[in-house]
Amino acid sequence: MRVLVTGSRGLVGYHVAEAFRESPSYQVFLTGRGEAPIPDLPYRSADLTDRTEVRALLAWAQPDAVIHSAAMTLVDACQENPALCWQHNVYATYLLVQSLTEMGAKAQLVFVSTDFVYDGYPIEKRPYVEGDYEAPVSIYGATKLAAEAWVKTYPGPWAIARTALVYGWAPTLPRDNILLRVLKQLRQGQPISLFADQVRTPSWAGDVAQGLRLLVEKRAQDLYHIAGPDIESPFSFGQKVARVWGLPTELVVGITEEDLRLTAPRPPYSPLSIEKARALGYAPHDTETVLQRLRSQV
Ligand SMILES: NC(=O)c1ccc[n+]([C@@H]2O[C@H](COP(=O)([O-])OP(=O)(O)OC[C@H]3O[C@@H](n4cnc5c(N)ncnc54)[C@H](OP(=O)(O)O)[C@@H]3O)[C@@H](O)[C@H]2O)c1
Repeated sequence: MRVLVTGSRGLVGYHVAEAFRESPSYQVFLTGRGEAPIPDLPYRSADLTDRTEVRALLAWAQPDAVIHSAAMTLVDACQENPALCWQHNVYATYLLVQSLTEMGAKAQLVFVSTDFVYDGYPIEKRPYVEGDYEAPVSIYGATKLAAEAWVKTYPGPWAIARTALVYGWAPTLPRDNILLRVLKQLRQGQPISLFADQVRTPSWAGDVAQGLRLLVEKRAQDLYHIAGPDIESPFSFGQKVARVWGLPTELVVGITEEDLRLTAPRPPYSPLSIEKARALGYAPHDTETVLQRLRSQV
């Protein structure tokens, strides 16, 4: 089975490529905009906002499944430049849907989305379940929700996987993530301020990748939450990182939204229930176990 991974130079995409290449059942094809992230896998550079490049990419890969993880992911940059964010997140997804449809709509399309489609003010304080109302508070969240809407118009098999606060390491990362930020600061003996009043389900990229592979294996055709199993604030997560790496926990400073107003608003409470994905076989590791494992690598 031929699997095309978009955003393969990014955190999620890189791990997705690794997850699929583990099995001889898959031939993995990668795309991104810079150099190939994994030298021994076929790679084609393409800008997904260019219709001709998208068509050529699909003609090259002839995929049976596409994992679409490419996106403009910097939430504040999206807020500052909504048109650009819309182009990379919505228009690129639209072009993929259109081009796959032109090819007969046989390939499964798996779209990676976000907890930021929720507003973070649930009526009942419980993790969000699939089917809860969406009301993004940021441009980034709005573009991801609009992209989901295009995915749902795809006449072939599609799945949407919403994930959250993804952490980990990969060789060609275009941006940092909470784990790398905490380690960088604490290793330099510098404090790091992290929100104690935001609630998330931090997700290790390796687990997210296995979840996405599961959606392909089961040929799932629905919306799923593919996130970590533990509910944490960025602050509590940062403290865990400090403890596991034996770095000073007092350098991890808890702040609130009132202390630091970011450009884009964030949902205050957006943990994702993963029960639906668990029923399919998704089994993410708890944060402590993942951090212990990553300790020798990062
Ligand atoms: N990171 C999180 O905390 C988080 C949380 C929830 C959901 N998500 C979702 O998960 C997915 C993956 O996130 P990530 O953290 O892996 O992101 P990432 O590390 O920022 O990687 C995203 C990749 O998308 C590629 N890309 C962006 N625009 C493109 C375009 N027009 N054409 C081709 N490639 C393009 C970039 O490619 P180049 O590097 O080659 O330029 C980049 O490598 C995204 O859809 C994001 O919305 C992420």
